[in-house]
Amino acid sequence: MFDRIAPTYDLLNHLLSFGRDYSWRRQAAAQIGAGGGLTIVDLATGTGDLLLSLLARHRETAHVVGLDISEGMLNLCREKLRRRGLAGRAELRRADAAATQLAENSFDGVTIGFGIRNTPDVPKTLREMHRILKPGGTAVILEFSLPRTRLWRWCYLQYLRLAVPFLGSVISADGQAYRYLNRSIEKFYPATEFLSLMRDAGFRDASVIPLTFGVASIYRGRKSPISE
Ligand SMILES: C[S@@+](CC[C@H](N)C(=O)[O-])C[C@H]1O[C@@H](n2cnc3c(N)ncnc32)[C@H](O)[C@@H]1O
Repeated sequence: MFDRIAPTYDLLNHLLSFGRDYSWRRQAAAQIGAGGGLTIVDLATGTGDLLLSLLARHRETAHVVGLDISEGMLNLCREKLRRRGLAGRAELRRADAAATQLAENSFDGVTIGFGIRNTPDVPKTLREMHRILKPGGTAVILEFSLPRTRLWRWCYLQYLRLAVPFLGSVISADGQAYRYLNRSIEKFYPATEFLSLMRDAGFRDASVIPLTFGVASIYRGRKSPISE
């Protein structure tokens, strides 16, 4: 599905979020602590917009890796990095977010933007994120969520159920993918449950920052600085 929608993914992303996605990704990238020589991995990197925010925010970062299962998405990401002269700053690989093949305790930061909802086993993906982090490292998850206020939530659900599949089918000619989008957002864990999954995966200080009245959220957790 992601290979199919890859060519129109960025346009629809910016359009359907009214351009708010730029600011959400910038805020997510800012949650990874600053410092020279950091190593960061962005899972489900897609066309690389969160990866680009990470590169912009952490110019001194030593090593940035982007992983995705879709070759179509990775090709667009490669091209985007090349056009911006950033190809040398990031390494892209095809891999499953729940089984990255990356070494244990190897990254200072691990991020995933609008990706964890698509992984078949969310607790497993969280455990993998925790496994590859160095002790004291930070995980940042940016994901769609549903507003808590009843009226706003109702309005947002109408938008998700009617406008999103319609615009998705007109622009990407793939209404099915955009019906999947609204269903997967509605099915995703509420914040309290997601934070509890993060704690179960081993994260400390799990917290959430709601964005734009709660239509997206940033979740953050830390791996204990002392190996347990
Ligand atoms: C909605 S896009 C998000 C892309 C990007 N992170 C962003 O912020 O725009 C979701 C991405 O998750 C990828 N994906 C889905 N399941 C995955 C998995 N199990 N492992 C790795 N990537 C996955 C898809 O190929 C797609 O590129």
